[in-house]
Amino acid sequence: MSHALWDIPTRVFHWSIVILLPLAWWSAEEQDFDMHRWVGYSVIVLVATRVVWGLIGSRHSRFSDFLVGPAGIVAYLRQGRSDSAGHNPLGGWSVVVLLLLLLAQGISGLFNSDDILYSGPFYYAAPDALRDAMGVVHEWAFDLLLGFVALHIAAVLFHQFVRKEPLLQAMVRGSAVGRQGLAPGRGWWWALLVAAIVAGLLWWGIGQAPQPDPGRWF
Ligand code: HEM
Ligand code: HEM
Repeated sequence: MSHALWDIPTRVFHWSIVILLPLAWWSAEEQDFDMHRWVGYSVIVLVATRVVWGLIGSRHSRFSDFLVGPAGIVAYLRQGRSDSAGHNPLGGWSVVVLLLLLLAQGISGLFNSDDILYSGPFYYAAPDALRDAMGVVHEWAFDLLLGFVALHIAAVLFHQFVRKEPLLQAMVRGSAVGRQGLAPGRGWWWALLVAAIVAGLLWWGIGQAPQPDPGRWF
């Protein structure tokens, strides 16, 4: 029996991020911070859920399935091919980089401010030095994300069209010819439960954050 390589939570995570990242940029550009905030919260919940799913999810979504040490990476570079069913050794580490950058982007946003009309929910809870650092992280993480996303898309297109491996089909449909899972997946509702818990925690944390006295302007 054949199994999905990428389970439903991993695919929903991926394509949601693909939609949300441009929306985050666009809403910041338009200074639509109501939209920006909700897009940002969604990215945080999705990425945090993906990290937990990397520990408890289906076999090929787990970090243990695709993170290999330096020897594995060197062997992959020498042979030019990987015997893993899922992410190859370089792809696996690029997943970690992308997830960390997305998380840094979202969390720094919570402490960010445009210094005029809108401040993230934890801005007033943070000392000046932390606010400044988070402002820098929010700008830099985005530039780094753009670079790594460009690299990611180039790598996917290389494997898809030069190596003729059906990566895109597998990320859309779950599996494809030659790209199948080796074990049954874990039920998607577990990921929904994790997402609900993460969203609840974020909601609770935001509710605890001190806000400025509305009687004061600065
Ligand atoms: C918007 C920016 C994007 C980000 C942040 C991003 C991020 C990621 C991440 C984190 C993964 C790992 C999936 C996982 O295990 O959870 C992944 C895989 C993948 N992404 Fe993207 N992605 C982006 C855009 C795209 C686009 C535009 C495409 C289509 C051209 C694409 C195609 C794929 C494919 C095919 C895989 C599976 C790779 C494999 O088989 O090893 N991604 N992406
Ligand atoms: C993870 C998703 C996010 C992405 C991709 C993102 C992206 C961006 C970008 C590209 C900018 C413009 C940066 C600049 O040129 O200064 C920006 C600004 C901003 N973001 Fe985010 N952001 C995210 C999450 C958040 C969150 C969760 C919040 C707060 C709830 C937030 C609050 C802000 C604020 C207040 C600014 C204005 C900063 C300024 O004017 O200097 N962001 N964001």
